[in-house]
Amino acid sequence: MDAAQLGKSRFLNLLFRFAGFTMESRLRSWLMPPEKTLLGAGLKTGQTVLEVGSGTGFFTLTAAKMIGKSGHLIALEPLSDFADKVEGKVRQAGYENVEVIKRDALKTELETASIDVALLYGVVPFPTLPLKQLLPEMHRVLKPDGSLAVWLFPTTGGVPTAILRSGLFTNQEKKNGVYSFTPAK
Ligand SMILES: C[S@@+](CC[C@H](N)C(=O)[O-])C[C@H]1O[C@@H](n2cnc3c(N)ncnc32)[C@H](O)[C@@H]1O
Repeated sequence: MDAAQLGKSRFLNLLFRFAGFTMESRLRSWLMPPEKTLLGAGLKTGQTVLEVGSGTGFFTLTAAKMIGKSGHLIALEPLSDFADKVEGKVRQAGYENVEVIKRDALKTELETASIDVALLYGVVPFPTLPLKQLLPEMHRVLKPDGSLAVWLFPTTGGVPTAILRSGLFTNQEKKNGVYSFTPAK
């Protein structure tokens, strides 16, 4: 099933609605405060940030706050229920620096070299986000001095090694549990 089908599937939207409760829980916020995890990605004022698979928006508003009004956060989420939920949160909070896009991250349709930081937070490994397709797309949209920030939960599943082996990213660093990679030239 590809992400377009995933987004439209009534069954999956319903199923994920329940998963959404876990994603939003207070216990989760307590165990993994979004600010601390996002600090690991080194977000800075004014940056253009791509959030892949924003889910219910556990990280979205905090990331938007960290990059400030001059920044731009693009939250990509194919599932209609989740994308609508994030959109609602953004509107309610009155944030104007967030754009929620209902789209597959394998084909972002974003401009080449337009993103400072791409966040892969809690999204890999995932069956509809195969690294073989996702990494070239992230490499394409990231600026040459941009950064791919990967937060993995509950296990790394060999993802950091796979990213380095792809040859598309180098310079692995780890801060607050977040792996950061630089696009290879
Ligand atoms: C485990 S959830 C994590 C959500 C959020 N990042 C969090 O940590 O709370 C994985 C998310 O990735 C999204 N996703 C799955 N395939 C995707 C794709 N091809 N492009 C973009 N997002 C995708 C799912 O819809 C889901 O919201």
